[in-house]
Amino acid sequence: MLPGLPALVGSVVLWLSSAAPRGLSEQSIKCFPENGPSREWLVRNKLTPGGLRTLRVDSVASPKTNPDAVLLNISWVLKQDGSIQMLKATKICVHGKGQFLTHSCVRCNYTEVFQSQTSPDGGRWEFHYLGFPIKPETAYFISANNIPPANMNEDTATISVNYTSPDCLDPVMKYTKKCQDYGSLWRPNITACQKEKSVEVNFSTSSLGHHYEVLIISHNILDILGNSDILELNQSRATVTIPVTAEEGKGALVQIIPYFSTCNNDCIRRRGTIFSCLESVTLVGLKKSQPWKRLLYLLLPALSVALWALAAGLYLLWRHGKAQKAPPHVPPLLPPIRVLLVYHPQACFRHTVCAFAQYLQGHCRSDVILDQWQKGRVAEMGLVLWLTAQKKEADRVVFLFSSPAEACDGSCDPSAGGHRESAQDLFALAFNLFCSDLKSRASLAKYLVVSLGKAVLSEDLGALGVCPRYQLMKEAGPFCRDLLSL
Ligand SMILES: *[C@@H]1O[C@H](CO)[C@@H](O)[C@H](O)[C@H]1NC(C)=O
Ligand SMILES: *[C@@H]1O[C@H](CO)[C@@H](O)[C@H](O)[C@H]1NC(C)=O
Ligand SMILES: *[C@@H]1O[C@H](CO)[C@@H](O)[C@H](O)[C@H]1NC(C)=O
Ligand SMILES: *[C@@H]1O[C@H](CO)[C@@H](O)[C@H](O)[C@H]1NC(C)=O
Ligand SMILES: *[C@@H]1O[C@H](CO)[C@@H](O)[C@H](O)[C@H]1NC(C)=O
Repeated sequence: MLPGLPALVGSVVLWLSSAAPRGLSEQSIKCFPENGPSREWLVRNKLTPGGLRTLRVDSVASPKTNPDAVLLNISWVLKQDGSIQMLKATKICVHGKGQFLTHSCVRCNYTEVFQSQTSPDGGRWEFHYLGFPIKPETAYFISANNIPPANMNEDTATISVNYTSPDCLDPVMKYTKKCQDYGSLWRPNITACQKEKSVEVNFSTSSLGHHYEVLIISHNILDILGNSDILELNQSRATVTIPVTAEEGKGALVQIIPYFSTCNNDCIRRRGTIFSCLESVTLVGLKKSQPWKRLLYLLLPALSVALWALAAGLYLLWRHGKAQKAPPHVPPLLPPIRVLLVYHPQACFRHTVCAFAQYLQGHCRSDVILDQWQKGRVAEMGLVLWLTAQKKEADRVVFLFSSPAEACDGSCDPSAGGHRESAQDLFALAFNLFCSDLKSRASLAKYLVVSLGKAVLSEDLGALGVCPRYQLMKEAGPFCRDLLSL
């Protein structure tokens, strides 16, 4: 007996229990790992079965044996034709394209020779296999072919599907070890309320760590209105007060950035809404007040609504009178302008660059050109050619810097792979390519510099000092206006 055999037998038993047949009890599958080529590949097979009709993939929590893992549930349907009698097995391979490439295959033997093109219940033959532990937010390529395989020069009968696994807040995925390390099970239970000059935030801390930063951000997620330092909190429920006036904080959200040792600064960030502290005070006051006072509280809003409606009506009447003299002015619909976005490699791609690009598209009538959104073309043309072409096409070039509060290290976006080095290349290249333009008045107008938060330009980037510079979101209005005024 081979020394490796006991382990193989062990896994056969395990996989047998997870591979269930459908249809007649006599026909079933036995699956086992087979990473090399099947024996049938090496010989010429006189008669071969047709391919599969469909291949479907889904993710499921693994059985109790391994509560950590999420598995693929791969199901397939056989084609209904005479060649089914030749079918001995189906081989399935899964190729993962995350940070590390993974590749593995199983072979599922059919226990019986197929006697009929249909299953005993009269339907199609369908089987499924549960296996291949998967990672969150990763692309998988799954392929399957029947054995014996088609001979050389015959039609290959391989069928394949792409599948992207869900992210860490998915109800199944959040229980995996990796997601737990990223803080998926932490329930911060945030409550926050706005006082006259500050926002009070309460939240439950996690057992994963003591360090948190609390931000008050504008409703478009881009502007930091106020933030705490990184706090070290030992208690289970924490209270933080952040100076943000009621006027500034209209529509704002609270964001908590945890810094657990398991995920450093790429842990899952949480958001919560901010209510008015006054509301709850008024409600408490109401319960204790006299009935006539309660009536007054109910009537006052109604009264003010009526007065407001009256005022609005009068105003509209007055405007209508004016409008009859002058034709109404309708601004023409202008096409969007093309904006090439060049970002400092310190900027966090997912949290800052993407959010800013979306802001430009949503609020500043822009079509944003971003290297990470055109990876294919960048790879095809090379970075220098791509940048030169985009520079020609773009109406505007925006250099984006972000404040140290939002800066983060290479672990920022693991799914983007080696994005940080490419961001470094992009930034340095763009700076050098466009620098000559910065010396002539005429072409200078194309460039703008945006800093989010308190970002400062380092000395070696001094050449950018001649470009108009905007601090966002404080100067969002002027920035948008200047960006669009060509
Ligand atoms: C796997 O997929 C098959 C076919 O769609 C289904 O019948 C089976 O219940 C699924 N298994 C699990 C554990 O979800
Ligand atoms: C599967 O089938 C092949 C060829 O028919 C055979 O060599 C192999 O031992 C079978 N494996 C199992 C686990 O039945
Ligand atoms: C799967 O994705 C790859 C690119 O990653 C693509 O080339 C291929 O055509 C896709 N296959 C299917 C079946 O969608
Ligand atoms: C969340 O916090 C509030 C107030 O502190 C409390 O009443 C509620 O029970 C908490 N909910 C959970 C799920 O912990
Ligand atoms: C936060 O907690 C403190 C103390 O438990 C409480 O007095 C306050 O009302 C809470 N604030 C909010 C916004 O939940």
